Amino acid sequence: YRDIFAKVPVAPVDRTWPDRRITAAPLWVPVDLRDGNQALAEPMDPERKRKFFELMVAIGYKEIEVGYPSASQTDFDFVRLLATSNLVPDDVTIVVFTPARPDLIARTVESVAGMRGDVVIHLYAATAPVWRDVVLRKSRDELTSMICAGSEEIQRLAGDSVRFQFSPEVYNLTEPDFVLELADRLTKQWDASPERPVILNLPATVEAATPNVYADQIEYMHQNLPRRDGVILSVHPHNDRGTGVACAELAVLAGAQRVEGCVFGNGERTGNVDIATLALNLHAQGVDPMIDFSDIDGIRSVVEYCTRMPIHPRHPYVGELVYTAFSGTHQDAIRKGFAVQGDGFWEVPYLPIDPADVGRGYEAVVRVNSQSGKGGIAHVLESVYGIRLSPAAEREFAGHVQRHTDATGREAGAEELKALYEEVYGCSN
Ligand code: KIV
Ligand code: ZN
Repeated sequence: YRDIFAKVPVAPVDRTWPDRRITAAPLWVPVDLRDGNQALAEPMDPERKRKFFELMVAIGYKEIEVGYPSASQTDFDFVRLLATSNLVPDDVTIVVFTPARPDLIARTVESVAGMRGDVVIHLYAATAPVWRDVVLRKSRDELTSMICAGSEEIQRLAGDSVRFQFSPEVYNLTEPDFVLELADRLTKQWDASPERPVILNLPATVEAATPNVYADQIEYMHQNLPRRDGVILSVHPHNDRGTGVACAELAVLAGAQRVEGCVFGNGERTGNVDIATLALNLHAQGVDPMIDFSDIDGIRSVVEYCTRMPIHPRHPYVGELVYTAFSGTHQDAIRKGFAVQGDGFWEVPYLPIDPADVGRGYEAVVRVNSQSGKGGIAHVLESVYGIRLSPAAEREFAGHVQRHTDATGREAGAEELKALYEEVYGCSN
């Protein structure tokens, strides 16, 4: 990890509003190679998996869920590749995912044999009533036995060479006393302590309520878990109601220490929570996210290549249009903001962060069409060609541009604006 952000993005907040804010980054765990991958129409082949893994390492993640080795040969082989090569840096922990079935656990443990560094075996089981009754047809007691037996099997096969993670699937719809009972049994079994914590991951597998409800559910565990200091409390929001990011942020405020998600929100249905957005939201409020998005377009091109899915132009922080203003009032404010920069804080209206923080230039910040105004048009001529207009000429030329763009119905690029300028005023002007 390197410190990428030279400029503090926001001025210190004048706390006239009562508020609580996140003051440090949680532990991040990308699940792109498992949850993200299982949701793709064309799951990643070995070449794309490797490329994606290398991207995760370059971003600076220290814990990476790399697959579901008992589910497919590709996943198994990929985990073996990681275990038998030097692709995994010493400070990176590998997480592998397994259901609570002895044969699948055995295959999972086999996949990580010889892996450098720490390994986490992530056991999951559906615990929510509908899944118990309709999908598994098992009682709470039967499930408890199955989960504890699975955990014991991991311990028997891998012992102290691995760390343990448990996810009760659809945590947000599971009875809290059931989760507490399971947490109690599992933390005892692993003798969880601050030195060897168990990871309890609480997924909102399918979002079902407003984000404050999920946060309350996390806070409840934070306050009531047995052996709390031997547990890393982790969250795993999905985005069915479009509030995955809010769920994660409120959950961190409620006591979550670790967040699982995918880099631009790939994942089942509407996706896993978008880690890039979470990280850059922290950056935008002056908190170091501890992961590196300073070349967001480079990251984007690898993600698009590996997932075979395009990023939406309005996707937070990475979309093509998210640092662009077409409208006259926004352009005018941005131009004035650029003119007063320089005291170490980023205070350009309508731009929540400096595009340069994510490796973007400023050319696309002001783009001109029929919605644009004199400030934006003058900004383009001045920043691209060094042509400065008087206030009167700015107003007059904007009239020409507006008539032109109204007639074409299109955007006018810098070259087109210059040509129009030369047509109106003559080349030598
Ligand atoms: O969404 C989910 O519940 C998961 C696992 C953590 C079980 O992907
Ligand atoms: Zn999930």
